[in-house]
Amino acid sequence: MTRIFHISDIHFGLEDPRALAWLVDCVARERPDAVAITGDLTMRARHREFAAACRWIQGLDVPVTVEVGNHDLPYFNPVERFFDPYRRFRAIEHLVERPLDLPGVAIVPLKTTARAQWRFNWSKGHVGRKALADCLARIDALPPGTRALVACHHPLVEAGTRGNAMTRHGNAALAELARRNVLAVLSGHVHDAFDLIRPTPHGPVRMIGAGTLSLRTRSTPPSFNDLVLGNGDLNVTVRNLDAVPTPAMQIEDVPENALPPRQPDEPVAPIAAVPEVDPPVH
Ligand SMILES: [Fe+2]
Ligand SMILES: [Fe+2]
Repeated sequence: MTRIFHISDIHFGLEDPRALAWLVDCVARERPDAVAITGDLTMRARHREFAAACRWIQGLDVPVTVEVGNHDLPYFNPVERFFDPYRRFRAIEHLVERPLDLPGVAIVPLKTTARAQWRFNWSKGHVGRKALADCLARIDALPPGTRALVACHHPLVEAGTRGNAMTRHGNAALAELARRNVLAVLSGHVHDAFDLIRPTPHGPVRMIGAGTLSLRTRSTPPSFNDLVLGNGDLNVTVRNLDAVPTPAMQIEDVPENALPPRQPDEPVAPIAAVPEVDPPVH
């Protein structure tokens, strides 16, 4: 049995300390084989946000792989954004886009975050030719029979969540992945969990999205995905502090607003929906 905690969108700067402490505790007690973090470590890629995020990630005492989210590229320094976009990850450089070989499965990164795009909103997903080629080459180089879990930040196609990804070339990427031994594509970005199958011209592909462990919730409380691979099956449990059952946390069945009803004496809005703010375009 192989167990992976799939977490996403920790957004230091607007992190949820209670949710993060809970995750650390779960990792320490349950010792998953790995933690896969599908991006958005910070809010605005500020140095202090990265310092806190890197410290927190380094405290996870199991193998970790980290994807880069749209919130993790420098916002306020265009020179650095273009010429040295990963500089602020230096403390955890060895974990970024790191392939992981685990029993029965390999985690393979796919970059979907772009420094710039030919459209107004650079926060959306983009699968570049080289990023896809690198990912496919890694999958093709795996020992025969090894299944791949592809890890990226943006869902490659929409998953019915309130937030969207609008990933350019995502459909084509998903179709290429369908031709290979891909168990599922893991992603974040939309802040709500899902587990669904999407058809492509080359066959179906499973897509699994993790919610957020930040205060930037959308429809559901802070959560992470507990992935268990055994006997060829991948089982996903969405775990959250509010004990909402997994089916209600997965977006296809989720009501308009699945956040649990607030108690009358509870402080107002400790968990608030914060609108997505687009990165600067210049
Ligand atoms: Fe996010
Ligand atoms: Fe994002």
